[in-house]
Amino acid sequence: MSARGGGAGSDRRGVRRHHCPRGADGRASVVSVTTPTPPDFVRDLKDALSAWASGVCVVTTNADGLLYGITVSSFSSVSLEPPLVLVCLNKSNRLPGMIDAASRFAVSLLASDQEAAARYFARPGRLPTPDFVEVDGEWTGLGVPVVKDALAHLVCDVHHAVEAGDHLVVIGRVIEAVSRPDKMPLLYFRRGYRHEVG
Ligand SMILES: Cc1cc2nc3c(=O)[nH]c(=O)nc-3n(C[C@H](O)[C@H](O)[C@H](O)COP(=O)(O)O)c2cc1C
Repeated sequence: MSARGGGAGSDRRGVRRHHCPRGADGRASVVSVTTPTPPDFVRDLKDALSAWASGVCVVTTNADGLLYGITVSSFSSVSLEPPLVLVCLNKSNRLPGMIDAASRFAVSLLASDQEAAARYFARPGRLPTPDFVEVDGEWTGLGVPVVKDALAHLVCDVHHAVEAGDHLVVIGRVIEAVSRPDKMPLLYFRRGYRHEVG
C-alpha cells in the first residue's frame, strides 16, 4: 500500500484498512467534492461505521397538517445551555423540507419493544399522512406528533441547519423533554436491531 497514493489492504488477522487517496503534497485529500469516493472505500467506510452501536429514534414533524417521519440513528445531544440536539437528515428525503416549513420537529427515542415502529419509519416511499398509520402515535400539546410510549421524546424548534455533504445537520432547541425511566432502549449495531443492553 503506498503511503502517498492511498489504497486498501488486509493484515494477517483479516483487519481491513483503507486510506483515502492523498494529494500531491502528501496530505490526505479531503474526500473531495470533485472526486467521487471510490466504491471499495464506501464499502469499508460503511463496515467501519456499522461498528458504532447506537440507539434508534424517529424524527417526526407536522407541516400544514401532514405528518411525516423517518427512523434515524444520527441523533446526538449538543448543548445544555441552551438545550440543543442534532440529527443528520439525507437531503434527498422530504423530511428536511417539511421541518423547514414547520420550524419544529420531535425526536422519539425508541424503546426495546418498538422495532416495528423503527421498521415502519425506515420504509422507503411512504407519503405524509394526516395521522399515524400502522404505528401508535400521539400529538403533543405543541402540535408535533411523537411515537406513543417511546423511551423518551424531545420537541424542538429549529435552531439552525448546516449542509454537510449529502446530509443536512439539523440542530434543534429543545422545548419539551419527556422520559419514561421504566423502559429500555432499542439499539442498532452491525446493520441489525438489538434488544439487550449488557
Ligand atoms: C437504523 C436506521 C438508522 C437510520 N438513520 C438515518 C439517519 O440518521 N439519517 C437519515 O437521513 N436516514 C436514516 N435512515 C434511513 C431512513 O430511515 C430512510 O431512508 C427513510 O425512512 C426512507 O424514506 P424515503 O424513501 O421517503 O426517503 C436510517 C435507517 C435505519 C434503519
